[in-house]
Amino acid sequence: MKRLSEASRAIGVFDSGVGGLTVFKALRRELPREKLVYFGDTARVPYGTKTKESVTRFSLEIAHFLEKRGIKLLVVACNTASSLALAALKRELDIPVIGVIRPAVRAAASLSRTGTIGLIGTEATVASGAYQRALSTIVRGDRIVARPCPLFVSLVEEGWWDRPVVRMVAEEYLAPLKRSKMDALILGCTHYPMLAPLLQRVVGPKVRLVDSARETALEVRAVLESKGLLRRAGTGSDLFFVTDGAVRVKRLARRFLGGRSPRVHVARLG
Ligand code: DGL
Repeated sequence: MKRLSEASRAIGVFDSGVGGLTVFKALRRELPREKLVYFGDTARVPYGTKTKESVTRFSLEIAHFLEKRGIKLLVVACNTASSLALAALKRELDIPVIGVIRPAVRAAASLSRTGTIGLIGTEATVASGAYQRALSTIVRGDRIVARPCPLFVSLVEEGWWDRPVVRMVAEEYLAPLKRSKMDALILGCTHYPMLAPLLQRVVGPKVRLVDSARETALEVRAVLESKGLLRRAGTGSDLFFVTDGAVRVKRLARRFLGGRSPRVHVARLG
């Protein structure tokens, strides 16, 4: 009986802003019966240029907010927070905490034949070395070639997913990776899956793109199943919180989620 009520609790999903909606969308697709609570820290975005101390503090505040709402599992749907704050979150919380790094690295390692895996993300994510550390625990000898691509976040939020100017920016960012033996490329930032078709054209058909949103959703399902926490009956529900700018978030959410304009609540932390 206890298990049943635990399984009916919500999954918490957080990001620095709206980008984590790519993970939210993948979770919704993979887990249609689950209750999902999304939290976007839009008052303090971006995290990608901030220090480990700040990102950890922000992440813990959000995790405690979601914990108070009785979530059964937390998804850190932000690559920067996963890179900098995952260990602290796991230490502090009594529920499973899943970041976006390991699922993506595992997928990339199994796809790569050359052993050279590309990574693009925010400055903080790339500088943290978190992907490199995760890779070294999964497979020996493979290496990551990484490049921060900070401009992509603004371009995606502008809705410019397939414009010539974005292609030019992508060519510039990805040139050093293309000169390597990379045959898999991790889209290591929440916003980048929106650019996947364009990025695929830039890197060519021989490089497999790894979308951390999808890989994370699969991992969440596997963890819920293994812990007997998967919700097997009922219909799913969505709840959205942000720390600022609910009107803008509503507009962007429609774009990210494809046609749906959700109700967005403004939350006060602390
Ligand atoms: N959500 C962030 C990430 O995935 C991108 C935006 C930011 O810098 O906060 O790294």
